[in-house]
Amino acid sequence: MLAGDDAGIARAAGLLRAGACVAVPTETVYGLAADATDAHAVAGIYEAKGRPRFNPLIAHCADFVGASREGVFDAHARRLAEAFWPGPLTLVVPLAGTARVSDLARAGLPSIALRVPDHPVATALLRAVDRPLAAPSANPSGRISPTEAAHVAHDMAGRIAAILDGGATRVGLESTIVACLDGVPRLLRPGGVSREALEAVLGYALAEDAPASGEPTAPVAPGMLTSHYAPRARVRLNAETIEPGEAALLFANVSPRGIDEAVAVRNLSASGDLREAAANLFGAMRALDETGAAGIAVTPVPEHGLGAAIMDRLRRAAADRG
Ligand code: TXA
Ligand code: MG
Repeated sequence: MLAGDDAGIARAAGLLRAGACVAVPTETVYGLAADATDAHAVAGIYEAKGRPRFNPLIAHCADFVGASREGVFDAHARRLAEAFWPGPLTLVVPLAGTARVSDLARAGLPSIALRVPDHPVATALLRAVDRPLAAPSANPSGRISPTEAAHVAHDMAGRIAAILDGGATRVGLESTIVACLDGVPRLLRPGGVSREALEAVLGYALAEDAPASGEPTAPVAPGMLTSHYAPRARVRLNAETIEPGEAALLFANVSPRGIDEAVAVRNLSASGDLREAAANLFGAMRALDETGAAGIAVTPVPEHGLGAAIMDRLRRAAADRG
C-alpha cells in the first residue's frame, strides 16, 4: 500500500514504467493500471483480474493534449472533452496515426476509449509515468468495483504490485462512455456524467446504444465491437498439421507437419508462456493476415489462465468470417 503523496506517486510511476500493475485512484472507482503502450504489461491486467476475454480497456491520459495523440476527435468529441474533462466521461474515438496504445489494450479494435480522470493523485501519476495508462476497474472479473483502497487490498492482494491510496472515490460509479465514431455520438454506458448534462452541451438528444446491463459488450454499432479485428484469412484452431497455402500460428515448442511449407510462421510464445502469448496475439494475427495467406492454422493453446481469453479471441476470429 503506497500513500498518495509525492513519494508514493514516484514509486508507483517507477513500477508502472517497469511493466507492473498498480491499483490507482480515480474520481469514479479504483482502476487496475498498467502502461497502455506495453502489451506485456497490459496482459498482466487480464491475468490479475482473471478476465475470461480481452475486453478493450480505457486508456487514461493526463490531459486533452495527451489524449489527442492517441485518438482522433471530431467536433462532437472535442466539445464533450472541453466540457467534461477532466472528469467521469470516456470518449470512444478512431485511433490516431500517432497512437502508442498497444493492440492488446484495444482488443484489436481500430477505435480507442480515452479518459482524462479528475483526481489529483491520478493526474500526478499520469504526468510522472508520461504514458497513457490502461485501467479497468480494480476488481476481479464479475465482482463489484472498488471505491476505496481497502476494497482493492481485500480483492486483489497478492495479485498486483502495489495499491496507491487516494482515499474514497468521489463519484463512486464508472465513467459514462460515449462513442464519437461516425458523426453521431452514441451513449454506450451510463455513468458519472448524466445524459442530460451531455445533451445540454451537445444541444440535441443522444443516440442510444447501451444494452440493459449498462456494459457495451453487446454489438453496439456497425463497425464497433462486432468488428473486433477479424482476419480476412480463414482461421483453423487446434491444428496438428499445416495445409498448403496456410500460415502457421504456433504456441510453445511445437513443429506441426507441413510447417516447412507454411506461407509464414509466428510463435505466440516459444517458451509456452501464456502472458507473452497474450501480448503477441493481436500483432501476430495481423502480421499473418497481411501475408495474404488463404488460412491461418493455429496450434493448440492450453485453456487455463490467460489461455482461456486467448482461445476465446481465436474462436471468435475463426467464427467471425463472412
Ligand atoms: O470509471 C471508469 O471508467 C473506470 C475507471 C478505472 O476509469 N474504468 C472502467 O473500465 O470502468 P472497464 O474496463 O471496467 O470498462 C471499460 C468499458 C468496457 O465496457 C469496454 O467494453 C468499453 O469500456 N470500451 C473500451 N474500449 C472500447 C471501444 N473501443 N469501443 C467500445 N467500447 C469500448
Ligand atoms: Mg468494470
